Amino acid sequence: MSTTEAVAPLWDFVGHYVGRFSVAPDFGALGQYEFIGEALLPIAQMIVDTAAIKPGEAVLDVGARNNAALLAAQAGAKVTAIEVSPRLLDVARERLKDFPDTRFELADVAKLPFPDASFDAVIDAVSLMFGADREAAVAEMARVLKPGGRIVWTGWFGGDAISDVAKIQINDTAAVVGQAPFPYSYWGNEDEMRALFGARGFDIVLTKHPMVNTGPAPRTFLEGLDQVHPVSRGCSLALEKAGLFERTMTRMVEAIERRNEDSEGTKISRHYVVGVATRKA
Ligand SMILES: C[S@@+](CC[C@H](N)C(=O)[O-])C[C@H]1O[C@@H](n2cnc3c(N)ncnc32)[C@H](O)[C@@H]1O
Repeated sequence: MSTTEAVAPLWDFVGHYVGRFSVAPDFGALGQYEFIGEALLPIAQMIVDTAAIKPGEAVLDVGARNNAALLAAQAGAKVTAIEVSPRLLDVARERLKDFPDTRFELADVAKLPFPDASFDAVIDAVSLMFGADREAAVAEMARVLKPGGRIVWTGWFGGDAISDVAKIQINDTAAVVGQAPFPYSYWGNEDEMRALFGARGFDIVLTKHPMVNTGPAPRTFLEGLDQVHPVSRGCSLALEKAGLFERTMTRMVEAIERRNEDSEGTKISRHYVVGVATRKA
């Protein structure tokens, strides 16, 4: 059996991340995304603050769990949360149980089950980047947005140790499963975003924000991340099956060590991007 055949069943789990148009799987079935979500809370806060959500507004949150939906509900919005993972949709339901007006739908952002012009704002805290069909996602978000509404999304700026690590893991997995690798910083790239949203009649403004990731020594840090992050878990399962896990992990540890700011543990400075799209006047 060739390497590609040996890992083929795992493609459903990693394909949406390393390949572009594959069907989104149950992201939440692997790992324990809840722990990652906690670390990314400041990003969700920045998204909700940037969207300047007002009480009574109809807000669509792409990708539940769900920090951004909770923060928008706390700001007084009537929130609709969509999610492709049934398990994470349940996590979001529990998290927003004090906001009974919140609507939850198992839905892909690229195929939204809502009428035209339904929302004042569409927000995305680190979800669109997980391999949604981009053109379809933007077309659908544009369709459901009211005139004068805004789309606020997240991207990684790239050029840091975490993006180095992600690229190594994604490229190695892509080679194993025989697919083109996913461009990690796509949603944080101003030229790409101008083209993507411009084609749907939007002006965009991007801002860059710092964040720091800390943890134990690089190998322990990466092994811990690998236990909880669904994409890392999916890639590692594919690499393990192909007998390549250790080779990739060694290169990932070296990538952290090259830019590590903490001699005893791990400290990585990086940036994320927040984009705001509004319809051209
Ligand atoms: C990194 S999590 C972010 C969760 C949440 N926004 C938060 O702030 O806690 C990404 C989520 O997006 C969901 N997702 C991925 N692709 C999606 C798609 N095409 N449509 C809707 N949700 C998607 C995943 O299942 C996952 O729960």
